[in-house]
Amino acid sequence: MRLTVIGTGYLGAVHAACMADIGHDVLGVDTDSGKIAALAAGRAPFFEPGLPEILVRNTRAGRLRFTTSLQEAAEFADVHFVCVGTPQRTDSLAADLRHVEAVVDGLAPLLTRDSLIVGKSTVPVGTTRTLTRRVTSQLRPGVDTEVAWNPEFLREGFAVQDTLHPDRLVVGVTSPHADRTLREVYAPMLRAGVAYVSTDPATAELVKVAANSFLATKISFINAMAEVCDASGADVVTLAEALGHDARIGRAFLSAGLGFGGGCLPKDIRAFLARAEELQVGEAVSFLYQVDRINHRQRRRTVDLARQLLGGEFAGRRVAVLGATFKPDSDDVRDSPALAVAAEIVAQDADVRVHDPEGIDNARAALSGPSYSTDVMEVCRDADLVLHLTEWRQYRALDPVKLLPVVRTPRIADARNALDATAWREAGWHFRALGRPAHVPPPGPGDTVRVTIPQAVGPVCTAPTP
Ligand code: UDX
Repeated sequence: MRLTVIGTGYLGAVHAACMADIGHDVLGVDTDSGKIAALAAGRAPFFEPGLPEILVRNTRAGRLRFTTSLQEAAEFADVHFVCVGTPQRTDSLAADLRHVEAVVDGLAPLLTRDSLIVGKSTVPVGTTRTLTRRVTSQLRPGVDTEVAWNPEFLREGFAVQDTLHPDRLVVGVTSPHADRTLREVYAPMLRAGVAYVSTDPATAELVKVAANSFLATKISFINAMAEVCDASGADVVTLAEALGHDARIGRAFLSAGLGFGGGCLPKDIRAFLARAEELQVGEAVSFLYQVDRINHRQRRRTVDLARQLLGGEFAGRRVAVLGATFKPDSDDVRDSPALAVAAEIVAQDADVRVHDPEGIDNARAALSGPSYSTDVMEVCRDADLVLHLTEWRQYRALDPVKLLPVVRTPRIADARNALDATAWREAGWHFRALGRPAHVPPPGPGDTVRVTIPQAVGPVCTAPTP
């Protein structure tokens, strides 16, 4: 089949390459000519494991091409995937649909044959209906076009794997023709037994928002438990493991720590809150405000733990920050909890040095205060404190014995609960983590709580107010 993929960011570039990889003829479209030139040359414009290989393979095979021209897209295919960003608006919690609207406004008047526009971006429930009216009003006479929604569930770092082997495909359609077309697009996956949920557009839009809300809630739930663990001397890692054995709960997304960030979960729950208010069901999802607040509290608690470890003062102290991206295996620093913590510590006059294996360039562009390096030893040299903020695999492999003589004082806070506490302590480090006991025995009921983290001095990042 001939397909276009409009928008070649994290979602679109991967979708385009994967659709070509399963045998379609794909034209990727973007307004950014630099990005298009890189993709056409087989180079990924961002770090995503596995993407360079499928880009090269499919561009060489001639199945994958790129353009900046919507006119070319309209002529090339009758199925157009829309993969542009839907960021949070700057003036409210709602999603900014300007890019999606610009695509359909640009494309609809150019269509000369009946077509299918398939949205993949995460949008507020009801968007397909609104866009359908918008598209229809701009079509040439005699041209018929349906708008369908087919949300994407890929995770950064696993984007290629998630696209080629999804847990499920969800399509929101209004005609049997659109359903048939999408079954044909995804035929190799359907043959492999991937679950296919065909429904109305509103339900399809909502599946994505509900899934991300559930995942965010799970993370904030375990982070709330981490706070209770800190106050009671319990261990959140063991707690999560024990909870996870219950098949109804599951261990996934129960890793307590610095919380969620990135280009999806934070803005998606806020956009959902905004849309629910519009639909006059804000009360029903108001718990998501709390999910967002708990998430931001982890950033503050991490800063507080760091300050406590430094004896109450950041000024003039050297802090080594391990990790800048919002998660490992990505170079994405959008709403990165690690960078938010680094920014706060810089604001409190610490000398902050940040390490990240892939995200340094993006981090430097987002936050100018710290110095950056891709050399862990360099970042840790003469540090008064090491902060582990993004759980890259290589940090787990660090040898605490070798790092000991590099730092000024062997203190480390593991804000991702990913390091081996025993190994670090045995090597002589003062090791602390969020939601895990320090060296003191836990208090009994009625005892004074001995494991405390002081209250925040300044905001790390402002959570939205209802
Ligand atoms: C998410 C959804 O998983 C994906 O389905 C959707 O399409 C886009 O949003 P992504 O943002 O790439 O994907 O990352 P994900 O792996 O979900 O992690 C999100 C954030 O949650 C990260 O900052 C991660 O560090 C954090 N997280 C995740 C936790 O703090 N604890 C966990 O147990 C899991």
